[in-house]
Amino acid sequence: MEQYVIKGGTPLHGEVTIAGAKNAALGILAAAVMTDDEVIIENVPNVRDTRVLLQAIQGIGAKVQYLDEHTVSICGKYIRNTEDLCVDDEFIRKIRASYYLLGALLGKYKRSKVALPGGCDIGMRPIDLHTKGFRALGAKDEIKDSMITVKAEHLVGSHIYLDVVSVGATINIMMAASLAEGKTTIENAAKEPHIVDVANFLNSMGANIRGAGTDIIRIRGVKALKGTTYSIIPDQIEAGTFMVAAAATKGDVLIKNVIPKHLEAITSKLTEIGATVEEFDDAVRVMATGRLRSTNIKTLPYPGFPTDMQPQMATALALSEGTSIVTESIFENRFKYVNELTRMGAHMKVEGNVAIINGVEKFSGANVCAPDLRAGAALVIAGLAADGFTVIEDVRYIQRGYEKFSTKLRGLGASIERVESEKDIKKFKLQSQAV
Ligand code: EPZ
Repeated sequence: MEQYVIKGGTPLHGEVTIAGAKNAALGILAAAVMTDDEVIIENVPNVRDTRVLLQAIQGIGAKVQYLDEHTVSICGKYIRNTEDLCVDDEFIRKIRASYYLLGALLGKYKRSKVALPGGCDIGMRPIDLHTKGFRALGAKDEIKDSMITVKAEHLVGSHIYLDVVSVGATINIMMAASLAEGKTTIENAAKEPHIVDVANFLNSMGANIRGAGTDIIRIRGVKALKGTTYSIIPDQIEAGTFMVAAAATKGDVLIKNVIPKHLEAITSKLTEIGATVEEFDDAVRVMATGRLRSTNIKTLPYPGFPTDMQPQMATALALSEGTSIVTESIFENRFKYVNELTRMGAHMKVEGNVAIINGVEKFSGANVCAPDLRAGAALVIAGLAADGFTVIEDVRYIQRGYEKFSTKLRGLGASIERVESEKDIKKFKLQSQAV
């Protein structure tokens, strides 16, 4: 199994370019099958989750062509629109975003059958709000043999209130409603940048969606969608991860190809703890010199502090002076990395959905395990800041959402390698000690 081995203690310096947003790409790639015309999507991040979803889209018959590493052509005309149209393969159960094909195929074919979603184990991950939306539009759903099937005679616009702000449900309902008859209103909609990106993509295909980015989204159904060429926004969470890595290693990094507005919550928290963040049109520069300070974090739907940045920020706080409180209000199981950080010397205690952090001066390298995607990224940050060597197991989780992560970090001066054996680890340690 692939691992990362890191020799910590080197402040990150230099420039890094951010890839396309994974969580926008997954919705957009699914929505691309809603037309029979060719759709060209640019700035697709080359990560495991997008590759797996494209495999599933190809699996139901759509034509998928990589025009280059980050540009994909999709043509839904070739989908086998048959009774047993079903999205199921061993990979698709591993990613959560497979459920976006529910809304896309329901919109286009008025039925779809998808393997129940997998994804990182950060909580229950229910889909009751997705099915609530589909039912409101006139569909019936059934869960059997760990597959979910939704179908409708025809879809009619409706007023849908989301009891909980849900990114996935907002995107899924937006897709199905785009091809329903009449008007749909989604109330208490998620406002993340990737919601706006999916809405802009659908509108570029001829959909009529207004209000994305606010908590009320209005959709007027259209008869059909057409081909388009679209470029995905930069990844807010990849950018935030590099921002925190720069601060935690007391470095100086220019993070390029970002939308600073999407990073406001992260920028303000890093500034609060003593880092300096300089904003440019499409870049941010993060610097830190002395020891960081403590603060409190509560994860909230956008524009609040993103849950996907909670493990990374908590890691920086575990090295800060003083006591910090981190409250995870979105998912119920997003502190699994705390045990791993404790093995590196962190003083953290978890009570329910709150972590109490007493900052320490230094971490020492250790062998740790990535429990999920963002926790894995947080452990990399911990290893970069620690004294000595850290080996991180299960980096496949990290590869789900970060493109060329170790390569980009090496470009910033980090001493990190992706390895596959004990022998590789020994060789890395010998070479690093020789330097
Ligand atoms: C998306 O997950 C992202 N994944 C997650 O990023 C992100 O953490 C999350 O949104 C919140 O921003 C993708 O976009 C593929 P939700 P999603 O529906 O859509 C509850 C990463 O690291 N809920 O917004 O699954 C749910 O339990 C991943 O990139 C229901 O109750 O999240 C949670 O408490 C991790 N019923 C809250 O809503 C539902 O039907 C927010 O979940 C759906 C969700």
